[in-house]
Amino acid sequence: MRRLSLLFVFIAAFVYVKAADEEYLPSYIQPCDLQTPEFKECVRKQLVNSLPLFAKGIPEMGVPSIDPTELDNIDIDGSGLKLSFKKPKLHGLSHASLTELAVTIGELEEKFKLGLKMNLSLTGEYIADGKILILPIKGKGPSLIKVSNVDVEIISKLTHVKEGKGEYFKLATPNYKYEIESTTFDFKNLFEGNKQLAETTLKFANENWRQLMDDLAPPVIKQIVKTIVKAINKFFSKVTIQRLVKGYKSKA
Ligand SMILES: *[C@@H]1O[C@H](CO)[C@@H](O)[C@H](O)[C@H]1NC(C)=O
Repeated sequence: MRRLSLLFVFIAAFVYVKAADEEYLPSYIQPCDLQTPEFKECVRKQLVNSLPLFAKGIPEMGVPSIDPTELDNIDIDGSGLKLSFKKPKLHGLSHASLTELAVTIGELEEKFKLGLKMNLSLTGEYIADGKILILPIKGKGPSLIKVSNVDVEIISKLTHVKEGKGEYFKLATPNYKYEIESTTFDFKNLFEGNKQLAETTLKFANENWRQLMDDLAPPVIKQIVKTIVKAINKFFSKVTIQRLVKGYKSKA
């Protein structure tokens, strides 16, 4: 009898360790209590504090770093200009500041709204051939695009996924919108190094940055949102709602 109970203690301890292992949360994330009036403020504080760290990844949870982020190649073919970026890399997500946060958790329809403001830079090899408005642009080489004060707002339904005994959040069908304050382009090796032509075109491109960004921003922002949502969902998939939100009562 004594042996048996000892065995139970061992099994219980093992199961407990196993469960604790699966429920890993980085120490900078402290679950907020849904049953307190400070819940929303607590979530906001948590996000402000953990955003820069979260963006650098949580290896223990398989959440990848998103600063820098490798984007898919970008190919634009429109309004008389062919422009491609090979192996573009995006820098700056870890310095994003939180401009808006709305979470409705524990209500009939659960939603998540996130507003971020950030300065981003995009590096990669560009290939350009065509015109910006009236001016020809042609070249191939390294590029640096700095985008200042990008506002991105992501609105998403917060759905639940059941897996095993756990229940997890998942952002589903996110919508987004964005605004950009300004952009500067630096394309190296325009016109095979013809300095005068290159300077004229670069100056013109920078004065008319919106023209170029009308084509370039949509595919870039789409990938940024996808990257952010994917990272958040990876995080959500590794920690149950019960562990993430104190005092949460399952609707099931
Ligand atoms: C972006 O950079 C500008 C200029 O350095 C700075 O004034 C602004 O506060 C930055 N924005 C963000 C969201 O960090």
